Amino acid sequence: MIRLIVSFFVFIVDVVYGNRSYARFYVLETIARVPYFSYLSVLHLYETLGFWRRADLLKVHFAETWNELHHLLIMESLGGNRYWGDRFLAQHVAVAYYWVVVLLYVLSPMYAYYLMELIENHAYHTYDDYLNAHAAALKTQPAPQVAIEYYRDGDLYMFEEVQTTTGGTFRHPQVDNLYDVFLNIREDECAHVKTMEVLQEPDARQSFYSPHTVFTAAKALPIDAEL
Ligand SMILES: [Fe+2]
Ligand SMILES: [Fe+2]
Repeated sequence: MIRLIVSFFVFIVDVVYGNRSYARFYVLETIARVPYFSYLSVLHLYETLGFWRRADLLKVHFAETWNELHHLLIMESLGGNRYWGDRFLAQHVAVAYYWVVVLLYVLSPMYAYYLMELIENHAYHTYDDYLNAHAAALKTQPAPQVAIEYYRDGDLYMFEEVQTTTGGTFRHPQVDNLYDVFLNIREDECAHVKTMEVLQEPDARQSFYSPHTVFTAAKALPIDAEL
């Protein structure tokens, strides 16, 4: 089942959109961010029903969907969503995918995270290949304003919040040109893969904390030690 979903995703992104890069990335980002919304929906429902509560998971999954939203906005600013047919396909697949992942997350959070690990890993390699093939041209083009705001000039809290495995030190990359932007997106996808791996560990529901929770706790430690 997991392999089937991933194969369908790869078919659309690699085969249908193989030679139209920005439209391809637009479709990829529209579909690939949906699982975070599915996770949030189920976790929110559990909270509402009083079953279970973990604020850190909600916080990080929201930051991840916020991160993917900015990838999407960057692709839109580059013209990836120009054609009605591309928007129609991406949005309809996204709606169907939402419900599939909701069901999967209810049945098995571990498999739902494994699915996302595979999708994010594919996204990482898609951007890595693109960077290697177009490095020189990308370095001559300006970074979209939305990327400059998200990665450098805006409030960086949400960007830091997806960096769950850096141990409280945050990546603050440069955004001088379009190459930097795609490099940053690729590194975001890498961070998503790592987070999905961590969340598949058996005790993840108890042991997982958001980066800012860890960072704040680390800063508070010396004060506690004095008491
Ligand atoms: Fe992305
Ligand atoms: Fe991602």
